[in-house]
Amino acid sequence: MRRSWVEVDLNALAENIRAIRAGLSPRTEIIFVVKADAYGHGAVPVARKAAACGVKWFAVAFPDEAVEVRRAAPEAELLLLGVAAAEDVPALLEHRIIPIVVDEEQGRELAAAAADRGRRLPVHVKVDTGMGRLGIPWTDAYEVICRLADQPGIEITGLCSHFAKVEPDDEEQAREQAERFFSISRQVEEELGRKLFKHMSSSRAFLYRREWDLDGIRPGIALYGYGTGEAWVRARTRPILSWKAEVIQVKRLPAGHPIGYYGTYRTRHETEIAVIAAGYADGYLRMLSNRGAVLIHGRRCPVVGRVSMNWITVEVGPGSGVRRGDEAVLIGRQGEEEIWADELATLCRTIPYEILTEIDPRLELRYLGA
Ligand SMILES: Cc1ncc(COP(=O)(O)O)c(C=O)c1O
Repeated sequence: MRRSWVEVDLNALAENIRAIRAGLSPRTEIIFVVKADAYGHGAVPVARKAAACGVKWFAVAFPDEAVEVRRAAPEAELLLLGVAAAEDVPALLEHRIIPIVVDEEQGRELAAAAADRGRRLPVHVKVDTGMGRLGIPWTDAYEVICRLADQPGIEITGLCSHFAKVEPDDEEQAREQAERFFSISRQVEEELGRKLFKHMSSSRAFLYRREWDLDGIRPGIALYGYGTGEAWVRARTRPILSWKAEVIQVKRLPAGHPIGYYGTYRTRHETEIAVIAAGYADGYLRMLSNRGAVLIHGRRCPVVGRVSMNWITVEVGPGSGVRRGDEAVLIGRQGEEEIWADELATLCRTIPYEILTEIDPRLELRYLGA
């Protein structure tokens, strides 16, 4: 008996990389964000394929993720988006991982730990230009960066920031953030007398504004194939992850029969119900109860009743011809029909990132085009 499984099309990833690359100046690097196990796609195979396609930079959240990606991309530059501490410094030095400095205290701690080992650690400094999350507030950034630049244990090689909101019909905040970042970058580069590697845009900002590309862009979701559907985007990509499962039972039920816990659905006429081996424990959100659909025999079949821990029930209709062992697609394409993570996200009032990263990492991941 099999669990549901995930298929990742690495040839489609290669096309997505090409699509994004095509819109960029040759001096702008793609810093591929592969944190959270490449948004549930599997960091090692994804990074290996991307490196083979010419991606030279990868970003992760935690040191253990970086060490994993290092195996896949021995030559790449690895950027740590989370907050490294002194105890992480040996691993950062050993695996050539570039941490991000988010405040003066942390910067000094990293510098001291590297200096203790007789080393100088390359770092990027993050400026909080309005996101209110990680980074040195832009109002203090210039002074703090100048003081950190004197620390012998670190070498500031880059500067970065992160947009809180990029909305074409309300672009004021993003423009303000970009201007703050440009202004601080100019002052710091002038003070240090050298150019730094500057990056700010994640997928949406890249898709929207060429002027914000700088030396690197940090796309995640666009490379996984989401968020590129709007008319104004610079590049189009397509989803690379499909989620499939087997039908494990098909039964005929009379009209008026309750389905699942608490009978939240009742059959309207005699019909067939297929039980599928995936549930909320696998990451198929319970919000999809009586809302979602899966593809079987190239048809959309509604999820009826509540999603349970390991199983869902779908209505395949009278005389469906669906049999135990048939393949059901929870995310992906079958025949002419498609269901992607953004559709499920809308149904669950969330974002495709959450749909993708909720998929249980214990499920088997299969790769096409590895
Ligand atoms: C600092 C930072 N940069 C870049 C990204 C990539 O964002 P996106 O997947 O929207 O392109 C993220 C994602 O969470 C992030 O936290």
